Amino acid sequence: MRRKEIIVGLDVGTTKICAVVGEANNDRIDILSVGRAPSKGLRKGVVTNIDMTVDSIRKAVSDAESNAGVEIRSVYVGIAGGHIKSFSSFGAAGIKNREVSELDIEKAIEAAKAVYVPLDREVLHVIPSEHSIDGQSGIMKPIGMSGVRLETKVQIITGAVSAVQNLIKCCEKAGLQVNDIILEPLASSVAVLSEEEKEHGVILVDIGGGTTDITFYDKGALRNTTVIAVGGDHVTNDISVGLRLPLQEAERVKREFASAIPMGDEKDEIEIKVAGRDVQLIPKQYLTEIVSPRCEELLNIIKGEIERFGAYELAKYGVVLTGGASMLKGLDTMTEAMLGLPVRVSGPEGVGGLKNVISDPMYSTGVGLTLYALENHGEKMVYVDLFTAIMDRMRNWVKGVFRKKELMTIKT
Ligand SMILES: Nc1ncnc2c1ncn2[C@@H]1O[C@H](COP(=O)(O)OP(=O)(O)OP(=O)(O)O)[C@@H](O)[C@H]1O
Ligand SMILES: [Mg+2]
Repeated sequence: MRRKEIIVGLDVGTTKICAVVGEANNDRIDILSVGRAPSKGLRKGVVTNIDMTVDSIRKAVSDAESNAGVEIRSVYVGIAGGHIKSFSSFGAAGIKNREVSELDIEKAIEAAKAVYVPLDREVLHVIPSEHSIDGQSGIMKPIGMSGVRLETKVQIITGAVSAVQNLIKCCEKAGLQVNDIILEPLASSVAVLSEEEKEHGVILVDIGGGTTDITFYDKGALRNTTVIAVGGDHVTNDISVGLRLPLQEAERVKREFASAIPMGDEKDEIEIKVAGRDVQLIPKQYLTEIVSPRCEELLNIIKGEIERFGAYELAKYGVVLTGGASMLKGLDTMTEAMLGLPVRVSGPEGVGGLKNVISDPMYSTGVGLTLYALENHGEKMVYVDLFTAIMDRMRNWVKGVFRKKELMTIKT
C-alpha cells in the first residue's frame, strides 16, 4: 500500500473550528476534505474554555476523517489573538570565504534571535526580511554575493505562553499531536496572496468572527502584523441588539440582507423573525443604519494600523480582504473608499481537489496552514491512510499479545 503524504491544517477560530486535509504531491496540495464544527470555547481568538474547544476540535477532526477516509494523528495549528506581538531585530555574521552562503545567513539569523524575550512570551516565528552586506542595505537574496560582513533584519513574532499552551493542551486532549503552531495571518497569506503582490507591497486583512488580522508584505517579506479584537460577530451582535433578534436570526439576516453601504435597495422590505416567531417586515435601510457604523469603526482602526506600519505609500497592490466577514456585501467598496487603496476579496487559491468547496474566504487560514506546512516542514508531514493505520494498530496488537504471553504480565 502506498503511503500517502497527508497534511492537516487545524484552524481554531472564534466562530468555527475547521480541519483541512490536504494531500501533498511534490510541491502541490490537493484538498481531500474539510471538517467543521461551531467554535464555542474561544473569545477574541484565544481559548477560554478548554473542554468546549476540545469538543469542537474532536467534531471537526472526525468530520474531516470520515470525509477523507484518513486517520488524523497530528495537525498544524493556527494561532491568533491580541496577545500576538511582532518586532524587528538585527543580527550580523562574518562572511566565510568572502561569498555569502546559506550558513552565513543562518548565523546572522541566529545572532538576531539573541534578544530579550519575557518569560511569559514564546517565539513563534523568526522571519528574515532583508539583508545588508558591508553596509549596502536592501538586499533580498544575498546568497553568492561577495563581502565581508552580513547583517540580517528579522521580524520576531511572539505569543503569550499561556495562550500557546492552552491551544496545544486542547489539541492533545483531542488526541492530536501538534507538529507546529503557525501564526494564522502567515498561513492565510500563503493561500491568498500572490508572489507579485508580496513583492510590490500588499496588506492582507483577514476579518474573522472575533478578530481581524492585518499583515503587511513588501519586497517579498512580511514587514508587520497585528491582530485587533473586532470582527464580523460584532456586526451580528449589533443587529441582534438593534433589531431585538436572537443571535442566530441576526446572523441569518446579516448574511442574507446586510450591506456595509446603501446598495440602492434601502426602501425594500426585509423579513425578520422577532423572538423566534413573529415575522415582521422592516425597510432594509434600518439594517444598513446598524451595520454601516460598525464597519466604518473597524475600517478606521484598520486605517490607523496601516498608518502605524508606514505601509500606505508602499502597498502598491493595495488591500486583499479575506476571512468570513469579508463577504459582507459592500464591504469591499467601503474599504476602497475609506482606505483610498485598491481592494480585492479572496479565498484560498493555488490548491487542487475540493477547490470549489474551499474557495470561501473563511477557509483561507485552514488551507493556508497546509500550504505553509508543505513549504516549511516537508520532512515532518508523512501520515498514513486509514487502512495502513488500522493494519499498523493490528500489528501492534498482535505483537502486544505475544509479548504479554512471553512476559506473563497484563498490560493495559
Ligand atoms: N456571507 C456572509 N456575509 C457576511 N458575513 C459572513 C458571511 N459568511 C460568514 N460571515 C461572517 O464571518 C465571520 C466568521 O468568519 P471566519 O470563519 O473567518 O471566522 P473565524 O476564523 O472563526 O474567527 P477568528 O478568525 O476571528 O478567530 C462571522 O462573523 C460570520 O457572520
Ligand atoms: Mg479566522
